[in-house]
Amino acid sequence: MIGIANGARIGITGLGTHVPERVLTNAELSRLVDTTDEWIIERTGIRERRIAAKEEALTDIARPAAKGALADAGVEPGEIDLLICATVTPDMMFPTSSALLADELGMPKAAAYDLLAGCTGFVYAIAQAYAMLASGLSKRALVVGGDVLSKILDWSDRSTIVLFGDGAGAVVVEPVERGGFLGFELGADGGGGQHLWLPGSGSRHFDNPDQLVKMNGREVFKFATRVLVYSAEQVLAECGKTVDDVDVYIPHQANKRIIDHAAAKLGIPPERTVVNVDRYGNTSSGSIPLALTDAREEGRLRDGALVLMTGMGAGLTWGSALMEWTNGRVS
Ligand code: ACO
Repeated sequence: MIGIANGARIGITGLGTHVPERVLTNAELSRLVDTTDEWIIERTGIRERRIAAKEEALTDIARPAAKGALADAGVEPGEIDLLICATVTPDMMFPTSSALLADELGMPKAAAYDLLAGCTGFVYAIAQAYAMLASGLSKRALVVGGDVLSKILDWSDRSTIVLFGDGAGAVVVEPVERGGFLGFELGADGGGGQHLWLPGSGSRHFDNPDQLVKMNGREVFKFATRVLVYSAEQVLAECGKTVDDVDVYIPHQANKRIIDHAAAKLGIPPERTVVNVDRYGNTSSGSIPLALTDAREEGRLRDGALVLMTGMGAGLTWGSALMEWTNGRVS
C-alpha cells in the first residue's frame, strides 16, 4: 500500500519515551550464554539494552511515555479521541493495552485498539492515525509504540537475546500549521513469516503453547536490508522527493550493520542517519519513537526538516512514513 497525504496538514506535536531502569550489558550476557562483547558489538553494534523488571508489563513502560507525549504537546488526556498502541507484547490479549492505557490516562472519549505489525507497528499506527484524522473520524490521536520483548525471549538462545531490549515511545498526532505527513508505504509478506515467529501465541498451536521467539537471523537480515531500501525509495518517489532531500533518516533500530547497509545503498550519509541501537538494542515498536526523540534532543528536528522513518519486522512487515517536521500546531 502506498499513498500520498491528501492535503490535510497532520503531524506530530508531542513526543515521549520511557525505558526500564535495568541496563543489561554485553558482559552480563556473556555470562549467560556462549557469546562475547566483541562478537555482539561487531555483528550488531549493540553495547547494552534495557530490561523490564519481573512485574513490569507493557502498559507500565507505555504509560510514562504517553504522559510525556501529552505534556510535550500541551494536550489534556480528555482531548484525545483515538489511542492506538502498536505492540507484540501487550499486557495480555484482552483487555487490550490501549484500552487499559486510555482508562489509566483518563481518555473516556477515545477509541482504543492494539495494532499488531511486528517491529513495523509504530509506522503502521501513525499511518492509521493520519488516515483517521484526514478522514475526519478523529480530531487528535495518541500513538504508542512499545514492547517488552525480554518477556518472550528464549534466554538460552544466544542468537536472539543479544539483539532485543525493552522500551516505549508515544506521539501525539494532530493538525499542524505547516508540513506534517507527506506519504506512507506499507507492506507485508506472510510467506516469509516463519523466519521470525512466536509459535504458541495464538489459536494455532494451542496444544503446545511454546511462547518464545524463534528467528532465522540470516533470512531476517537479507529481508531487512532489502525492504529498508525498497520502502524508502517507494515513498520518496511517490511524494516527489529524493534521498538528497532527506534531512533525518530514522530506520528501525534492529542492528547497526543492517542500518549501515541500508543507508549506504540509499546514499544517505551517517550524519543524516539516527542510530541509538548501541544503547537500547532492538526495542521493536518502541524503536522509531525512541530514535525520533533522540534526534530532537540532538537538535536535528528543525522546523521544515524532511524526516524519513522506515520500519521492518515480524509478519514479515515493512513500512515508511515521510514527513516534514513542524513545531507549529494548530491551536
Ligand atoms: N555470540 C556468538 N556467536 C553467535 C551468536 C552470539 N550471540 N549468535 C549467533 N552466533 C553464531 C552462530 O551460531 C553462527 O555459528 P555457526 O557458524 O557455528 O553456525 C555464527 O555466529 C554466525 O552466524 P550468522 O547467523 O551467520 O551471524 P550473522 O553475522 O548473520 O549475525 C545476527 C547474526 C546478528 C542474528 C544477524 O543475522 C542479524 O542481525 N539478523 C537480523 C536479526 C534481526 O534484526 N531481527 C529482528 C528484526 S525484526 C524485528 O525487529 C522484530
